[in-house]
Amino acid sequence: MKSIAGMSVLITGGGSGIGRDCARRFCERGARVTISGRRMDKLEAVKAELGAQCEIVQGDVTIQADREIMLTAALHHGDGNLHALINNAANMYRQPVDGYDEDFLKDAFNTNVVSAMMLSSMAVAPLERTEGAIVFIGSTHTRRAFPGASPYATTKAALEGLTKVMAAELGPRKIRTGCILPGAVSTELNLRAGLFTEEEAKDRYEAVAGLHALGRIGTGTEVAEGVEYLVCAEWVTGVALEVDGGIGLGVSNF
Ligand SMILES: NC(=O)c1ccc[n+]([C@@H]2O[C@H](COP(=O)([O-])OP(=O)(O)OC[C@H]3O[C@@H](n4cnc5c(N)ncnc54)[C@H](OP(=O)(O)O)[C@@H]3O)[C@@H](O)[C@H]2O)c1
Repeated sequence: MKSIAGMSVLITGGGSGIGRDCARRFCERGARVTISGRRMDKLEAVKAELGAQCEIVQGDVTIQADREIMLTAALHHGDGNLHALINNAANMYRQPVDGYDEDFLKDAFNTNVVSAMMLSSMAVAPLERTEGAIVFIGSTHTRRAFPGASPYATTKAALEGLTKVMAAELGPRKIRTGCILPGAVSTELNLRAGLFTEEEAKDRYEAVAGLHALGRIGTGTEVAEGVEYLVCAEWVTGVALEVDGGIGLGVSNF
């Protein structure tokens, strides 16, 4: 297994939550990390904590010119190299089946899927030079059905399919892929989508904790451990790895 030390890693959506925790862990372990996001204040806070090993770049993953800036920044920070792309940026999209809005669905797929496909496409050439890896952040929403969350769940299902086809297509070029399926982690994801307030979050996460076989929600650092594994494990590609405290098992005490 490779070591992440010395690797150049681009993490989209690294200003908060799981992306930030990936940046922390990878910097602690000696990687050079470039994080992107739309909110500069969030990125600057992470940079203040992590220092010179962490580079920040403002940008929207849905905009091609911004994606080019992100990749250029990561290559610059990595002395011309990129060893791993972590497609982490995403939003939560919930809508009832009988209330679908076409623009809403297009936005969900554009942000959560198309942006990651485009960035991955652009990263192929530098990743080929380093025999690098592309990691997608999927979700337990493809293992557990949450009514109302079909727009989000289908974007995450798309990423799992993408992970397999990309593994087959890019394997001969020595680029590996992987998809992490996290269980519940307390982040801004649902707050940003306006699904609940910070006051409600505690109750919501307590309620969902019981769905996990291990009886608790996870941390971003625990998800980051899985991401690091997929980046570094040299004979692993095309897999969906559940890092989910067992929520995906669908435990039933019936
Ligand atoms: N938290 C969970 O329980 C959980 C479970 C399973 C999977 N996930 C997945 O984990 C990943 C990280 O989410 P999180 O939970 O850590 O939530 P989060 O803190 O909200 O992180 C998502 C990040 O994506 C960025 N982002 C969103 N849209 C963007 C855009 N158009 N352009 C650039 N950046 C964008 C956001 O930054 P800006 O708004 O500043 O751009 C934010 O920093 C996501 O893929 C999510 O689907 C989360």
